[in-house]
Amino acid sequence: MTQRVLVTGAAGFIGSSLCERLIAEGHTVVGIDNFFRGSRSHLSTIESHPEFSFYEGDVTSLKEIQACAEVTKGFDLVHHLAAINGTKWFHETPRHVMETNIIGTLRTLEAAESWGARYVLASSPEAFGDTKTMPLLEEQSSMFPSAHSHQRFSYGASKYLDEVAVQHAVRCGVDARIVRPFNAYGPRMLGDAYGQVIGMMFQSVLDEVPILIHNGGGQTRCFSYIEDIVEGFFLAGELDEAVDDSVTLSGRCFNIGTSEEITMNDLAQHILAVSSKEGLGTVHTEGHPGDSSRRVPDCEAAMTGLGWSPKVGLKDGLRRMWDHLR
Ligand SMILES: NC(=O)c1ccc[n+]([C@@H]2O[C@H](COP(=O)([O-])OP(=O)(O)OC[C@H]3O[C@@H](n4cnc5c(N)ncnc54)[C@H](O)[C@@H]3O)[C@@H](O)[C@H]2O)c1
Repeated sequence: MTQRVLVTGAAGFIGSSLCERLIAEGHTVVGIDNFFRGSRSHLSTIESHPEFSFYEGDVTSLKEIQACAEVTKGFDLVHHLAAINGTKWFHETPRHVMETNIIGTLRTLEAAESWGARYVLASSPEAFGDTKTMPLLEEQSSMFPSAHSHQRFSYGASKYLDEVAVQHAVRCGVDARIVRPFNAYGPRMLGDAYGQVIGMMFQSVLDEVPILIHNGGGQTRCFSYIEDIVEGFFLAGELDEAVDDSVTLSGRCFNIGTSEEITMNDLAQHILAVSSKEGLGTVHTEGHPGDSSRRVPDCEAAMTGLGWSPKVGLKDGLRRMWDHLR
């Protein structure tokens, strides 16, 4: 059934691809973004589509969120992706990170409640803080270190509080679901100093400079191609009921990722190989304080509840991203 969908953070890396997917599925989509980190060019494939409209606005303002509903007279579904992401920001502007992420979630939840809309929150594995237990389960407990030494968890703790706010809304009757993407990568990913690791490594290759590796490079991550991430968001918003026999999707948390774990050193070698730039090599540097050494998802809940599974392996995804970049 055609739905009226609001996507916040629509001009961002994941948000823009999600908007494309929702339009392709026949939904009416309104996107909102303040271009803090996103770009209008990300919307070029859909901006003139009759079922897509875009509103430049701030998700910390209820008035600006409500303005998105002027034409559609409300929404059936809100995908809330607007947030400040990118490790450098967590340390440099923690107050802005917390304000955007927490207030933005509270305001969009309030709006969703007023429209009677289903709500999907983009949370993060960072909401688990410094938890060492792996893999990270759907309902894993979070653990945060003292805030005295660094500000990294301005982001992770804000995502944790976002989840608390969503669970409270569920108790108040909102149909809300939580998606935690684990290290998405693909076209449109930022590669500047405020970007994320795969984007930054490919940027080094494009700039013909050695790939910078932080903190020794022995730390691991599990990367997920953008199409798999978008599929997770799409299913979390689209399905009325779980595909298994669980009672409801509301209040559930879905880790969306792969178990294909790789060190940063090996990742750099893959990226040099896929771009045939082995000669550039790597250089090592100190990283940001507080970076976790390992982050592995347990995606059982997404597989059984949403019928989701990852389709694109890392080598294939890196190849696709490189084909796009050049
Ligand atoms: N990319 C990942 O691997 C990853 C992992 C975990 C969680 N997430 C979460 O998924 C969501 C999307 O991530 P992304 O990688 O696409 O990030 P992104 O930075 O590309 O997208 C976020 C968008 O939100 C916009 N935005 C920021 N503040 C805003 C405000 N006040 N009002 C309106 N728009 C605002 C930005 O301009 C940007 O376009 C975020 O909530 C992020 O925390 C992403």
